[in-house]
Amino acid sequence: MIENGKWTQVPGTREVQIYPLIRQPSILCSNSFVLATSSQIIVMDPGADTLQIAEIGKILTSLLAEASRPVFVYLSHCHIDHFFAVPFLLEGALGARLICHAEGARLLSRRDRAVTVSDLHALDVPACDVWAGIFGPEESVEAGPSAYHPFEEMFQPERVEIQAGSSVPTVQVAVNGHDRMEIFQTPGHSPDGVSFLVGKCLFVGDLPFATDIGVAGAVGWDPEALDETLSLLRWLGRNREIEWVVPGHGKPFSFDQFEKIIHRQERQLKTLSDLIPMDRQRLLDLLDYAGIVLDEISVLFAVVSARLLKTAHWLEILDEKEEAGNLQNAIDLPAVERLIDDFHYFVEDFKGKELKNIILVRALHFMARFDKTFSPESVSYLMDPLLLRRIKTLFSEFYHATYGFRFVLPEEGFDLSEAVEEVVSKAREPLFSDQAVLEATGAGETFLKALASRIAEHPLFEGVQFDLDPSCRKAAQVRMDRAVFQDLLLILFERLAVRGFERIELVSGETSGRSWLRISAATSPETAPLEGRQLRIIQRTMQNHGGDFQEQQDRSHSRFVFEFPGSSGSDQGNGLI
Ligand SMILES: [Fe+2]
Repeated sequence: MIENGKWTQVPGTREVQIYPLIRQPSILCSNSFVLATSSQIIVMDPGADTLQIAEIGKILTSLLAEASRPVFVYLSHCHIDHFFAVPFLLEGALGARLICHAEGARLLSRRDRAVTVSDLHALDVPACDVWAGIFGPEESVEAGPSAYHPFEEMFQPERVEIQAGSSVPTVQVAVNGHDRMEIFQTPGHSPDGVSFLVGKCLFVGDLPFATDIGVAGAVGWDPEALDETLSLLRWLGRNREIEWVVPGHGKPFSFDQFEKIIHRQERQLKTLSDLIPMDRQRLLDLLDYAGIVLDEISVLFAVVSARLLKTAHWLEILDEKEEAGNLQNAIDLPAVERLIDDFHYFVEDFKGKELKNIILVRALHFMARFDKTFSPESVSYLMDPLLLRRIKTLFSEFYHATYGFRFVLPEEGFDLSEAVEEVVSKAREPLFSDQAVLEATGAGETFLKALASRIAEHPLFEGVQFDLDPSCRKAAQVRMDRAVFQDLLLILFERLAVRGFERIELVSGETSGRSWLRISAATSPETAPLEGRQLRIIQRTMQNHGGDFQEQQDRSHSRFVFEFPGSSGSDQGNGLI
């Protein structure tokens, strides 16, 4: 086992010692590994953290004091979290020589901010001279010294056949008189990816995360290349003795575990072939979206928890203490509240700072934790399933957007008039009736559930009149997810009802092949105006689905227009998710 912060012999080598600096997984800085033999020292991926690089500096100084020998720094790929601190090792007494893929060398000489993901980290690429680029063309290229540059310890590149008629190039480097390091081209996560096999340890950089949300789709990410890389890695597992797979972030694991990851990634790749690249603009847009989603989740959570508390309170008064306790235990309310507070403090802390990508990762992490903590199914008998479904929809919409899936118009449409009537009749009729409670009298648990449901019922739309214009009863096909549209319509109705609008009119129509639905509500001195913030989730979700949502205000009315992505038969659309 190779252990963090300890010198150990690399399994399968005669002499190579390794000192791993393994960090808690973080997108800010990679793991780093120092490998030492009597004839040279290797640093793999110095990382980006100044404390980590200072520690590496100390280790190298003490090794060089024992015996002078060359220091080589290898990069698994040129993402900024793997190399930002490298200049420190190249300067002064350490005088390390930087080696990476020739493509990476070109990126560094150009100080490229996009493919190195420096843009997302809001960092400038530091000046660092590459001593040798590997796997590049032998003839000189415009980048000059950053092209392919064989050195004394490096053997001639060879090709290994991984299946009949298919071979890949590999390079071996002598790390001492007996041991060699074998290097393979493993692009996909980035164009310049390489993996290093030293003894029975395979150093794979960020390949284990290459299909993860927020990682897949980065500039330079290439699903076809990644697919070929995965085949090569599987071949390596079968044709080389690999005890440990050593990633760029997190702890080493066995090849068996890696094979499971490879299998999962191969399956995921089938759906990830055409992602929208993740650049800084999209990152900022996603952060804005994350804020909208979190706001909406806070509202929904407040509604759900208020209903639970109210129901538990009344059940206690009615002396049904056990059922009241069951309810309160169904959802860990304090844990969910703590989660929301944590996240808001976090966002406040980072406001104005440049580490936007961290906020996005934390937002995703937060949503995953929230999803786990909050399982609305446990109280589904108490609430309208539409309300509970909405929370799941919000998560899945956000995941889709973050992955960068492109919007595709659904093949099938739905009938707008039917969908609207269904939502309106749900809003008009109470879900849980007094009759159900009476009918269940004496039926033990069924009675308690019916009673609890009736107490939880909140007559939000009592006193609200819905007027459907005859145009809303005319069949009109729209191509959008029916459930998502119904969620949005209900959100709008709720917002209007809460603000005190008493009459809601609906009209639908079609303009230039696009169907629309207009909702008008007459304002009076008593009605509180709707804030734009409350409608952003509707607008953003409609835009996700290729449509739009607009608000039009005048003195006497608030009007809201849903515009649908296209009537059936038309093939327009293709906005971004
Ligand atoms: Fe990376």
